Amino acid sequence: MKYLNSFHSFILESKNDILIDIIKPENEDDVVDVLYSSFGFLEDSKESLRKRIQPRLSNGISIYLSLNGNIIGCYLLNEKSAQTFIDDIRSGKINDFPESETKIYLDNIQGRGLQGIALSIYPEFRNMGFGKMLKDWVSNLSYDYIWGVADKKLENIDYWKSRRNIIAESPTRWATIEFFKN
Ligand SMILES: CC(C)(COP(=O)(O)OP(=O)(O)OC[C@H]1O[C@@H](n2cnc3c(N)ncnc32)[C@H](O)[C@@H]1OP(=O)(O)O)[C@@H](O)C(=O)NCCC(=O)NCCS
Repeated sequence: MKYLNSFHSFILESKNDILIDIIKPENEDDVVDVLYSSFGFLEDSKESLRKRIQPRLSNGISIYLSLNGNIIGCYLLNEKSAQTFIDDIRSGKINDFPESETKIYLDNIQGRGLQGIALSIYPEFRNMGFGKMLKDWVSNLSYDYIWGVADKKLENIDYWKSRRNIIAESPTRWATIEFFKN
């Protein structure tokens, strides 16, 4: 268990012209735009996306990354245990992971968990290390692991497998987890 950064520090990481900070109400439109650039093809409209993620934007945990004052990436986060998620699958509470069609590969997950809800960098800023900065920043919080669900339509499980293990697989989704080392 780690006891490091507080979520309430004002500037969380500032390096040259790159800033990572908690999403505030005035950042929400820019963050929705970044998310829509990655996940728009899964949505009916930008407004439906905004409505679905609204509680995650304003929870005081989710972060954005800006470059020269412009938001180019974000990581929506939620404090939730992966074991609760597995238990909820078994009780038939998770529509995207129907119990009879889901394989569970990990169980009895201990520690304090963070759920990664959505990670996005604008396409023109990808492959420059910004996504890794957001992931690495999150790994220094006081959590033991991060887990998340990815739609199979994103076809990105091979990327996630480089740092995460698979918790569960349903016909349409993967759930993966990364245990933090320190
Ligand atoms: C995933 C994403 C945020 C990575 O951002 P990036 O700035 O290009 O990433 P970097 O330049 O730091 O690249 C390195 C990391 O990204 C990973 N990555 C690259 N493309 C990826 C993709 N499509 N999905 C997941 N991870 C990806 C690499 O495996 C590498 O991971 P590592 O830190 O474990 O080594 C970006 O590709 C993106 O916005 N993709 C569309 C949205 C998406 O698929 N999000 C993840 C699912 S919620």
